[in-house]
Amino acid sequence: MNYILSVSDLSKSFGAVTVADEQNFGVTQGEALGIIGPNGAGKTSLFNLITGTLAPTSGTITYCGESITKQSAALRCKKGIARSFQVPQPFSGMTVFENALVAATQAANLRGQAAYDFCIKVLEQTELLAKANIVAGQLTLLDRKRLELTRALCTKPKLLLLDEIAGGLTESECVSLVDTIKAIHAEGVTIIWIEHVVHALLAVVDRLIVIDFGRIVANGNPQQTMNSDQVREIYLGIDADV
Ligand SMILES: Nc1ncnc2c1ncn2[C@@H]1O[C@H](COP(=O)(O)OP(=O)(O)OP(=O)(O)O)[C@@H](O)[C@H]1O
Ligand SMILES: [Mg+2]
Repeated sequence: MNYILSVSDLSKSFGAVTVADEQNFGVTQGEALGIIGPNGAGKTSLFNLITGTLAPTSGTITYCGESITKQSAALRCKKGIARSFQVPQPFSGMTVFENALVAATQAANLRGQAAYDFCIKVLEQTELLAKANIVAGQLTLLDRKRLELTRALCTKPKLLLLDEIAGGLTESECVSLVDTIKAIHAEGVTIIWIEHVVHALLAVVDRLIVIDFGRIVANGNPQQTMNSDQVREIYLGIDADV
């Protein structure tokens, strides 16, 4: 299988709390993978492990054919792994454009006019161009989410990790964000998307993984997985054996 990313026997514990329990899965080039699971299941921790802000207790992470398990977060970012944060993390005192420029220059290694032009292109795509000169700290929630996406895209990612980017948005804001994510996916960017807003997720993803207490309990076709006994049991408390 031509995996852009694979994790093998990946585990992480914080004392008695296991956030990743012997996880094994791969993501193929160009795929859009969804991840769901209850609060505290370990979804964001998985992104922290993939991006390198968290070191695993055991296991390996392979990206584009090489082990990145021990590589720094900065190096992984330069190699094309980008993320949006569940709680937006902009440089609040800088403008939208300056936030984009940091990513384009520091991660995508663009300079001068090329960096400028690339940021404009991304800001057009994420529908933030009209707000390029607004200070990030003054943005609405939707625009802060769009800025998360902008900053990630300005690193020129091959693999884009989205952490609850639709959370807290109105229905129409959500529809507009889904259209943007679909367009990014159509350009060939591989996506892993953690989301509680399931209808938004199902509009985009090719496959769905369910995590519960750090364990992967389901991995397959999105609709079939949503209808599975495991998901019913986790979300509705209905015992799969009943
Ligand atoms: N650095 C840390 N130190 C100790 N415990 C942590 C740390 N990071 C996360 N945890 C704990 O690990 C568990 C999983 O957290 P994580 O943020 O990965 O969950 P999540 O699935 O993303 O949840 P949510 O849907 O609420 O965002 C939680 O119980 C959390 O409190
Ligand atoms: Mg989370």
